[in-house]
Order: sequence, then C-alpha cells, then structure tokens
Amino acid sequence: MTEGQPRILAFAGSLREGSFNRKVLRYAILGAREAGGHVEELGPEHLTLPLYNGDLEKNGSFPEPVEAWRAKIRQSDGLLIASPEYNHGVSGVLKNAIDWGSRPPNVFRGKVAASFGATPGAQGTARSQMNLRICLSAVNVWVVPRTVLIAHASEAFDATGELKDPRQVQALTALGRALVQAARSGLADV
Ligand SMILES: Cc1cc2nc3c(=O)[nH]c(=O)nc-3n(C[C@H](O)[C@H](O)[C@H](O)COP(=O)(O)O)c2cc1C
Repeated sequence: MTEGQPRILAFAGSLREGSFNRKVLRYAILGAREAGGHVEELGPEHLTLPLYNGDLEKNGSFPEPVEAWRAKIRQSDGLLIASPEYNHGVSGVLKNAIDWGSRPPNVFRGKVAASFGATPGAQGTARSQMNLRICLSAVNVWVVPRTVLIAHASEAFDATGELKDPRQVQALTALGRALVQAARSGLADV
C-alpha cells in the first residue's frame, strides 16, 4: 500500500502540440493533486522513443530515452493516461511506450492507472479506451473501472482553452481523485 502522497505520472498518447488529450489531462491532474497525489506531467519528449526493436535491447539495457521512460514509470505509483483514438485503437506512440516498459523487468507491474480521452469524433475514444485496458491488463496494471470520454473535442473548448462543459471538468477531476484513492488502496499489491 502507498501511504502518504502517491506519486502520479501523467501523460498523453499524442505528440501533437495542440493535442486535445494533453488539454484534458490538465483537469485530471488537478483532481489528483486535490486528492493529495504528487503529480509529474511528462511532455511529448518523454514519449518520443525509438520504435520497439528487440535488437536495441542489449543484456537488459535499453536506448537512453527508453531507460529514462522506464525509470519514470518504475518510480511512480499511478498513471494518468489521456489516450487518443487512432483507427479504433490506441496511438502508436502510446502502444510503443507501453511495449518498451513491458520488457523484463516489466516496470508497469503493480501500478494503478486511470485512462480517458478526447477526440473530434462522436465516440469520445471509447474504442481506444477498451483497447488500452486490454494492453494495461497484459502488463499487470490495475485500471480504475470508469473513464471519461470527451467527444466533439473541436468544439469542446472556449477561446481561452478551457473546457466549456463543467460536467466534463468535474468528471475529469473526479477521475484524477479516484486514481489517487486507488493508489492508496493497496489494490496494486494484490
Ligand atoms: C491515423 C489517425 C487515425 C484516427 N482514427 C480515429 C478514430 O478511429 N476515432 C476517432 O475518434 N478519431 C480518430 N482520429 C482523429 C483523432 O482523434 C484526432 O486526430 C485527435 O485530435 C488526436 O488526438 P490529439 O488531439 O490529442 O492529438 C484519427 C487520427 C489519425 C491521425
């Protein structure tokens, strides 16, 4: 069980500067901080990793950016993941980062996660969330059962870049709080 202040790593599966997913991530981060989590947000540079290639693994060591990514995951208790939807699945960026982290020793083992997403489309990333849950389950991550889906993201933000709908803000901050509760629960030690 994680006593005190759980360490939360927050990131989006998009490298795009104007990423909707990075915009909605901010609200989940606020919720996690409200609940007492120590949150570190990773920018796109942390997920800019070489494509997975077994030939780049040398006697249990990895290319430098992969080592840095793996260390960040290892040092965390919980993950806040804003996942875009690409062709009904997770983005290649996110899947590649998960694949690198899963290589022995799997740095994801025993973490908890909350995932959610935003898309200009009508389904709010629902299909990529299902896809992501399958991947996270494969790497022994406990995922908070509920999610938040932001559909029609192109119209969801006002001129200052804030979400227009306070219910979406509430849902995202509540999910951030739920992750911190899950990190404290000892669930991941089961
Ligand atoms: C290759 C590709 C595939 C996509 N497939 C989907 C999809 O299946 N469902 C969806 O809702 N949006 C899809 N989109 C649109 C993305 O949701 C949109 O580009 C979104 O802005 C990406 O997230 P970001 O704003 O965080 O970068 C796709 C975009 C790309 C580039």
